[in-house]
Amino acid sequence: MNIPALLYFFNLLWTAPSVVLSRGVGTKAAQFKVHSLPGIASLPSSWAGRIPVPGAKAGNEIFFWLFETEQPAYEDNLIIWFNGGPGCSSLIGLATGNGPFSFDGNSTNLVRNPHSWTQLGNVLYVDQPVGTGLSAASSPYPVRDNGQVTENFAAWLHGFFDYFPHLKSKQIHLMGESYAGIYIPYIASQLVNSSASLNIASMSLGDGSWGNAAAMSSVAIGRYIRSKSTLLDVPDEILSVFEEADESCGFNGVLAESAIYPPQGTFAIPGNPEFFNLKRRRRDLTNALTAACDIGPTTPEEVRTSIFNSTCYGPCATFSTAMDYMTAKSANSSTHGCYDVYDISHDCSSISPLPLLAEYFSRTDVQAALHVPHNGPYSACNSTILGTLLAAPSPVPPEYFIMPDLVTNHNISLHLFSGEWDMLINHLGAELSLQNMTWRGAQGFAKPPNQLFYADDAAPSTTENAIHAPATTMVAATSTAKAAGTWAAERGVSYHLFREAGHSVFVNKPREMYSYVRDVVVAPRTG
Ligand SMILES: *[C@@H]1O[C@H](CO)[C@@H](O)[C@H](O)[C@H]1NC(C)=O
Ligand SMILES: *[C@@H]1O[C@H](CO)[C@@H](O)[C@H](O)[C@H]1NC(C)=O
Ligand SMILES: *[C@@H]1O[C@H](CO)[C@@H](O)[C@H](O)[C@H]1NC(C)=O
Ligand SMILES: *[C@@H]1O[C@H](CO)[C@@H](O)[C@H](O)[C@H]1NC(C)=O
Ligand SMILES: *[C@@H]1O[C@H](CO)[C@@H](O)[C@H](O)[C@H]1NC(C)=O
Ligand SMILES: *[C@@H]1O[C@H](CO)[C@@H](O)[C@H](O)[C@H]1NC(C)=O
Ligand SMILES: *[C@@H]1O[C@H](CO)[C@@H](O)[C@H](O)[C@H]1NC(C)=O
Repeated sequence: MNIPALLYFFNLLWTAPSVVLSRGVGTKAAQFKVHSLPGIASLPSSWAGRIPVPGAKAGNEIFFWLFETEQPAYEDNLIIWFNGGPGCSSLIGLATGNGPFSFDGNSTNLVRNPHSWTQLGNVLYVDQPVGTGLSAASSPYPVRDNGQVTENFAAWLHGFFDYFPHLKSKQIHLMGESYAGIYIPYIASQLVNSSASLNIASMSLGDGSWGNAAAMSSVAIGRYIRSKSTLLDVPDEILSVFEEADESCGFNGVLAESAIYPPQGTFAIPGNPEFFNLKRRRRDLTNALTAACDIGPTTPEEVRTSIFNSTCYGPCATFSTAMDYMTAKSANSSTHGCYDVYDISHDCSSISPLPLLAEYFSRTDVQAALHVPHNGPYSACNSTILGTLLAAPSPVPPEYFIMPDLVTNHNISLHLFSGEWDMLINHLGAELSLQNMTWRGAQGFAKPPNQLFYADDAAPSTTENAIHAPATTMVAATSTAKAAGTWAAERGVSYHLFREAGHSVFVNKPREMYSYVRDVVVAPRTG
């Protein structure tokens, strides 16, 4: 399996109006005020720096960057943004489409982002766990597992509110992507358990790893490849090997059950595909990390062997084989030479933002402006943290009991969303997992998530027509506006599938994502 895939798979290895905020900011916080940022003339009021994790060993401090809302109408919201990894910096999201600035093309020149979420609330970016991005950690690396990540962040947030007490009463919206699909539900659960005084209003998880790992990977990947075979350029002879596997491994049966609305019971996953199924045998991490299992399959015979006869990946290894197949194929392809598991539409002209982040946030003048002088080189993702948390016992997928409890017993809205071009955590696996989840007295959605939403309206009011008509007819019916995707919401949970977006939806679709945050996440709730 390739390295980007591992950034996800660790968890599957079992086991203007500056008066608004400034008024509330005490003198204690003045040390964190960002007075100017190199390369950009104007920025919403912001505060940045490191605050220690209460109770942790000295040297364990979490970096934050807090922006004040630019529109007073939204001052009641505090959005907290988490990138995944584990070990990836939330400055990635900030600089690639949800924050107030982004990079100008393939340069470190900064430009203002017209779709910045800072217009919709106070936005807090956090580099966590300790040691991520511009945060600091003691040595040897002290965080051992997800439980500690959760406790550290909850403790830290209380420390943060000591400096910014006026934010403590805001509606808190926890938002993140990828591995944050685990961080956020666990953190929300810890916060509601430890403190009655915070108002956790919602959780939004984009392309998140919150479901059973086998469901989100092995079970869904064959169907995903077939649905995107043109864009992926996968020939029929390879597709039919995946089809054969989906049939004999029982995945087609699971997918067929999940296509019935409302669902008729939970969907059992036969066996233990790739050792990803819940609480079965722990997968051998060493082999997966060193790529020892990768036979570089390109022919139908090699693909079949890798799926069915890999003693290394385990049984029915459709996901790992698909990853290896795409990597091997793209290595020799002139057209797919820059295959990107996070966004299958990418080609060699696509810009990779991580080197730009590394260059910009490693600058001493930038670090001084953010009150982390002489931090040393910044890297967007940290492999020590990834490896450490990878080797730790994995948390139970939040889908099983954490998310249903938060929605049902704590009235926290849950917003799930996917980008159709993300192959790593593909939308079919998310939809399957969602249908298998039980909250507020029922399992899954009663109707398929096929209502249309639009670039400037992410939650159009439901009409009978929209619910029942196939998506294609509706596009014709509303020909003036092209749909941004399909959605549904039931009993406090919403799901949006964004068309033409990858793993980070706002990278391709900043305008659509802005509407989503406005209309779905921070919108007044209807209960
Ligand atoms: C990753 O984090 C560890 C622990 O804090 C630190 O020792 C190491 O220097 C970091 N690596 C990078 C590349 O930032
Ligand atoms: C919070 O409490 C609930 C109910 O006791 C428990 O199931 C859950 O695991 C707790 N959350 C955390 C993060 O410890
Ligand atoms: C559905 O949930 C049950 C437990 O309630 C679990 O055993 C099963 O593996 C899950 N199936 C999927 C497809 O996630
Ligand atoms: C896979 O292994 C089984 C038994 O171990 C064997 O019968 C079968 O021929 C093998 N298939 C392939 C494609 O190598
Ligand atoms: C890629 O091309 C090289 C040189 O032509 C060849 O040796 C190699 O086997 C090919 N790899 C794949 C995966 O097709
Ligand atoms: C972006 O710049 C880097 C460094 O100069 C270069 O290696 C890379 O190819 C460029 N990417 C594109 C898409 O032009
Ligand atoms: C749940 O939240 C909604 C929106 O804030 C509110 O209208 C409703 O009264 C809440 N329900 C409970 C049981 O607290």
